Amino acid sequence: MTKDEWKNDSEYVALVSDLLKSEIVQKLENYTQHHNSTRLDHSLAVSYDSYRIAKAHHLDYRAVARAGLLHDLFYYDWRTTKFDLGSHAFIHPRVALRNAEKITNLSAKERDIILKHMWGLTTARPKYRESMIVSLVDDYEAVSEFFRPLKNKIQAVIKAL
Ligand SMILES: [Fe+2]
Ligand SMILES: [Fe+2]
Repeated sequence: MTKDEWKNDSEYVALVSDLLKSEIVQKLENYTQHHNSTRLDHSLAVSYDSYRIAKAHHLDYRAVARAGLLHDLFYYDWRTTKFDLGSHAFIHPRVALRNAEKITNLSAKERDIILKHMWGLTTARPKYRESMIVSLVDDYEAVSEFFRPLKNKIQAVIKAL
C-alpha cells in the first residue's frame, strides 16, 4: 500500500481506531523498523494489506486488521539489542501478545496471529489462514520497506536520464 492509504478506508479505520488511539500503539512511532519506516508505519502496512487480502477471501478481516496492527508491539531496537535473530524471532511475538492484552481482549485467532507471525524463522506453525496471511504479508513488507530507498533512488535516476 502507499503510505496513509488506509486513512481513506473508513471501514478499516473503524475496526482499529480504538487501538490507534492508545498510547501503547502510538509509541511505535518512536522506533525504526526497517531503515526508512517506523514500527507504526510497518504495523499499519501489515494490518491494512492483510485486511484487504482477508476481506477478498471472505476471512475474518477484523481479526487480521486488529492483530496485524498489534503484531510487533514491542519496544526495543531489534537491530542493536543483544539477541541473535532466532531469539528475537521467538521472543518479540510473546512480548507483543502481552502488551496487546493490556489494551484489548483478544480472540484465540488474534492471539494466534500475533504469536505465529514469525513462522518461517520459528517452528510455530499458524493455526488459521488469517495467521498465515499476516505472516506472509509481514515478510513481504519487511522486504519492500528494506528496498524502498533503493527503489526511490532507481526512480530518481531513471527520471533524470
Ligand atoms: Fe515481528
Ligand atoms: Fe512485523
